[in-house]
Parts: sequence; C-alpha cells; structure tokens
Amino acid sequence: MPDDQNQSLWTEVDRYFSDLWIPHDVALDAAVAANRQAGLPAIDVSPIQGKFLHLLARISGARRILEIGMLGGYSTIWLARALPPDGRAVSLELSEKHAQVARENLRRAGLLSRVDIRVGPALDTLSLMIKAGEKPFDFIFIDADKSSYPEYLQWALRLSRPGTVIVADNVIRDGEVIRSGSTDADVKGVRRFNEIVAAEPRLSATALQSVGVKGYDGMAVALVLS
Ligand code: SAH
Ligand code: DHB
Ligand code: MG
Repeated sequence: MPDDQNQSLWTEVDRYFSDLWIPHDVALDAAVAANRQAGLPAIDVSPIQGKFLHLLARISGARRILEIGMLGGYSTIWLARALPPDGRAVSLELSEKHAQVARENLRRAGLLSRVDIRVGPALDTLSLMIKAGEKPFDFIFIDADKSSYPEYLQWALRLSRPGTVIVADNVIRDGEVIRSGSTDADVKGVRRFNEIVAAEPRLSATALQSVGVKGYDGMAVALVLS
C-alpha cells in the first residue's frame, strides 16, 4: 500500500477507536482548540495515546506524576485526571508561552490546583528538584526535546523508586530509530536513551510501536526494578 493510503487508514482506525471509547470532552477539546489558536505545534499526544497514558498511570496507582515537556498541557490533563484527589503532578516546560496556554487549559479543566508547572530548561529544573530533596515520583512521562532524552532518563532514575513507571514518547520516529549512522540529533538522542535503558540493570523496558493520526512512532515503557 502506498504511504498516503496507509496514513489515511491509520487515521481512520485511530478515529474509530477515539469515537468509540473516548467520549468528547469539553476540557480536552477546548485545550486542543486553544493550542492551535495560540499557534503551538500540533505535536500533543493523540486522544488514544492520552488515554493510554491515563490508564497506565491509574494501573500503576500513581499519586505523584512528573512530566517533562508540557506544551499546552493536553497530555497533562490526561495524566492529572489519573491522580487521586490528593495526588500531584509536576510538569516541566521551557516556553513561558506554552506554559501560559497550558495554565489556562488546566484551569478550564479544573485541574490547575493539582499541577505544579515549572517553567525553564528542564535539565535546570530537574537539578534544582534533586537539590531541594524532591520525593520520588510514581510515574514519569518524558516528551521534551529528544536530544536531551539521555539526560532526562538519568534525572528520572534519580527521581524514581522501585515500581516507578517511566514512559518516553517518540522513540520510533518513522523507524529512523534503527539507523545507527543517523546524524539527526533527535534520532541520536533517542538511540542513546535506548542504549542507556539497555545498560541499566534497574530498568526493565519494552517498546510500543504505534501508527495513527500522528503517523508511525511509538513509546518506550520502562519499570524501575530497584
Ligand atoms: N507532552 C505534550 C507535548 C510536548 S511537546 C503533549 O503531549 O500534550 C514538547 C515540549 O517540550 C514543547 O512544549 C517544548 O517547548 C518543550 N521543551 C523543549 N525543550 C525543552 C527543555 N529543554 N526543557 C523543557 N521543555 C522543553
Ligand atoms: C515532535 C515532538 C513530539 O513530542 C511529538 O510527539 C511529535 C513530534 C517534534 O518535535 O517534531
Ligand atoms: Mg511527543
């Protein structure tokens, strides 16, 4: 099948499941609309991916969630809704503009009080969090600049406990992940991330290849063992 036929089928099947299992939701729809209105890039997780993150967080019983790379907070809404009433999410975002759009989206969703938004380069924020004695997180979603994924993973491990779930978005990249000679900084970042996961005895991991409205990509899912 030609690539464009594949893509239209993936999109239709994606919509089939989101229409069937993910009822339209004022807060999520408004967040997507606000993100596009503000000119944010359309790289939010898709609805079925958002629900996947939400269910994983619930399955793991997460009470403390860390997100690295917030954009307009679409994934943050899914994750924050997985928390119990006394749970908290911390979301790191470089751009004050993105964070402002996200704040408004979370406020509209009634979730602003559950999410601590920290603006600035995530590597700086993570270092400050360790220095401040931040408690470990139960669930960590890595989705910021791909070239820093190796460093984000190292910080994530320092902010984990046995049982923490670490999920990283965009680790397949149209299959480019297997190109060992790639000079693309994003591909190099995710490949290095994958190698660190492989070498880390504290982690047990798998990869979930996916097709859908966002094309061909996927997530890494890792469990912290010790
Ligand atoms: N998780 C979001 C999408 C995140 S897109 C969702 O699914 O809805 C990636 C985000 O990472 C962008 O908003 C970008 O500004 C942010 N980002 C890029 N470099 C960063 C850095 N060094 N520190 C923190 N955030 C960064
Ligand atoms: C890009 C980033 C993402 O987090 C994503 O899910 C898709 C694309 C990007 O930077 O192009
Ligand atoms: Mg992503």
